[in-house]
Amino acid sequence: MTITTTGPDLAAVKAKQQKTWSSGDFAKVASTIVLSSERLADSAQVRAGSDVLDVACGSGNATIAAARNASNAVGVDYVPQLIEVARSRAALEGLTVDFRVGDAEDLPADDDSFDTVLSVFGAMFAPHHHRTAAEMSRVTRAGGTVALASWTPDGFIGEMFAVISGHVPPPAGVASPLLWGTEDHVADLFGDDASDISSTQQIQPFRYRTAEAFVDFFRTWYGPTLAAFNALDEAGQSVLYTDLVDLANRWDIHQDGRGICIPGSYLESVITLR
Ligand SMILES: C[S@@+](CC[C@H](N)C(=O)[O-])C[C@H]1O[C@@H](n2cnc3c(N)ncnc32)[C@H](O)[C@@H]1O
Repeated sequence: MTITTTGPDLAAVKAKQQKTWSSGDFAKVASTIVLSSERLADSAQVRAGSDVLDVACGSGNATIAAARNASNAVGVDYVPQLIEVARSRAALEGLTVDFRVGDAEDLPADDDSFDTVLSVFGAMFAPHHHRTAAEMSRVTRAGGTVALASWTPDGFIGEMFAVISGHVPPPAGVASPLLWGTEDHVADLFGDDASDISSTQQIQPFRYRTAEAFVDFFRTWYGPTLAAFNALDEAGQSVLYTDLVDLANRWDIHQDGRGICIPGSYLESVITLR
């Protein structure tokens, strides 16, 4: 007897993800997490005059951080509307930045064309992890740097994804993006190409007036949360809302009713390629 097993249709998964990231308006969320991009550009020691690529750049946070450091910055994302916002932001600051619509799994860039390749909460979401990592290594020059910021599975965003998955299961058979927030997975993805990998835990704070304001903001502007609410009926939406409010209140470091602050922990990895 021949048993044929088929994996998930990753092209279909990616097409659905692209639609999800095009919904809401991620640029609104991005403006609350600029710190992580500025910090990563600094940790990666982006040099003035060097060539830098920001993979899955969204509205351009890390690309613009790199351009502010006087580098030749390129940003790639597969959502054209976000690329448009990124171009406007760079223009407002008078920065010359090359933004391209493209896929992290098939980067629109030549081999060995960048000194530094960054990705802030971006590459982690492409479904083929090894292909994405291989693409990032391919476009980085020998001795160059790949620097990543990735949410950790046991942090707030990891728990938020777990709560949402309890209501709307993720596609079966697709590796979790949160694996990129673990040192073992980063070593698995880049170890063969790396001469050094240095990882540190970092915090991106999320500050809102109330836990409800946080959930309202995310369900309006953050595509994955919006998609989860849209997949549920009214009763399901109500339970998800309550669960997310409870989660945000539980993670609030102040606990005094005067604005919440949620520590979003992530892994920052700076990888030196051979
Ligand atoms: C959480 S956002 C982060 C955006 C940006 N790096 C930032 O820090 O603001 C994730 C981004 O990854 C992009 N993305 C996800 N999968 C992608 C893929 N396969 N190719 C290109 N972009 C992708 C989405 O469009 C979205 O802009």
